[in-house]
Amino acid sequence: MYCVRNVTEDLYWVGGNDRRLALFENIHPIERGVSYNSYLLIDNKTVLFDTVDWSICRQFIENIRAVLEDRDLDYMVINHMEPDHAACIEEILLRYPKVKIVCSKKASMFMNQFGFNIHDNVIEVKEGDNLSFGKHNVTFIAAPMIHWPEAMVTYDTTDGVLFSADAFGSFGALDGKLFNDEVDFHKDWIDEARRYYTNIVGKYGPHVQALLKKASNIQIKMICPLHGPVWRNDFGYFLDKYDKWSRYEPEKKGVMIVYGTMYGNTEAAANDLATRLVKKGITNVVMYDVSKTHVSYLISESFKYSHIVLASVTYNLKIYPPMLNYIMDMKALNLQKRTFALIENGSWAPQSGKLMRELLNDMKDMTILDSDITVNSSMKEQDKDSMESICESIIQSMK
Ligand SMILES: Cc1cc2nc3c(=O)[nH]c(=O)nc-3n(C[C@H](O)[C@H](O)[C@H](O)COP(=O)(O)O)c2cc1C
Ligand SMILES: [Fe+2]
Ligand SMILES: [Fe+2]
Repeated sequence: MYCVRNVTEDLYWVGGNDRRLALFENIHPIERGVSYNSYLLIDNKTVLFDTVDWSICRQFIENIRAVLEDRDLDYMVINHMEPDHAACIEEILLRYPKVKIVCSKKASMFMNQFGFNIHDNVIEVKEGDNLSFGKHNVTFIAAPMIHWPEAMVTYDTTDGVLFSADAFGSFGALDGKLFNDEVDFHKDWIDEARRYYTNIVGKYGPHVQALLKKASNIQIKMICPLHGPVWRNDFGYFLDKYDKWSRYEPEKKGVMIVYGTMYGNTEAAANDLATRLVKKGITNVVMYDVSKTHVSYLISESFKYSHIVLASVTYNLKIYPPMLNYIMDMKALNLQKRTFALIENGSWAPQSGKLMRELLNDMKDMTILDSDITVNSSMKEQDKDSMESICESIIQSMK
């Protein structure tokens, strides 16, 4: 059965949801699934904006057939070539052999690389090029590295609709609801939107800033991303989040404590610090066990909070491996402008504090507080002063 929705009078959502996939990009858990959005415009010409992941191709084809009725497909605009959206390009070509593919030069190169038989169906476009489909005119805007180099976004100047590719997307399947005002975004979606942004696009903050700048010059009435809800009002809320995330500015003054522990002593030290902070009025504290929390959640929270405490055991003279993995991911995703405090633990040759400091020193605009603590196997009475001074330094640095 087809399942489509009107986005505007003549624009239809023809995407679908995957609620079975465990790991997006085979790496990020998606407990609430994911939507692959695709849009079909019915004008003098018929135009498909991006395709979907192979997993939902059958649903996608049913949707397109239902909306097209007996019309042929004239154009297919491909904004982004990652297979979660581009996997069905060849299937569309097989079913609608006369379709013209509209995409960037790099995207057409990628189509060949992926082995799609695109023949001479391609119309290459670049930033500023326009195309008319009848009533609707569109212009193309380059969006390199959001989140691949070939990416562009397409702006329908007639209706003010921005087809934003991966930008403004979110993890999470759409449960019949399509628009931002049909969900409680701040309550139910923002965490998954942040986790999507920070892990998928987080590294490319300056590119996102460049796109936001271009977007500020156009009259946006609707944002149609490739994942998650379509935005038709309250743009300020999401644009502000994107602006913060892409400038690596924290959303919240607060302390995220991430601990790596085998036997619980490092966790006990972390608990001690958390309790001290809260008793002094810093109630915005969250704690995560680095071994139990998938790193994509840690990354998302790291983009949210201003202060991060890393508490790690020493493991074969190194940082505890899951903690190292988290720090390396933070570095890979270009996180900046955070304040850190360090807790190390070891029984014979504690090293993790020094090693964590070295890694953080190598990252951009990170402040590492001087006061730190070496826990020898377990925290004891005599360690209380050091912990108190870490607590005080954190509070001072928040002012
Ligand atoms: C496989 C393994 C390797 C370890 N390597 C070191 C080490 O190189 N240096 C050290 O001081 N302690 C080392 N330790 C000891 C732990 O870091 C130490 O016992 C710590 O207090 C454990 O804290 P926890 O209770 O939070 O797990 C190692 C422990 C294990 C199990
Ligand atoms: Fe992508
Ligand atoms: Fe995507």
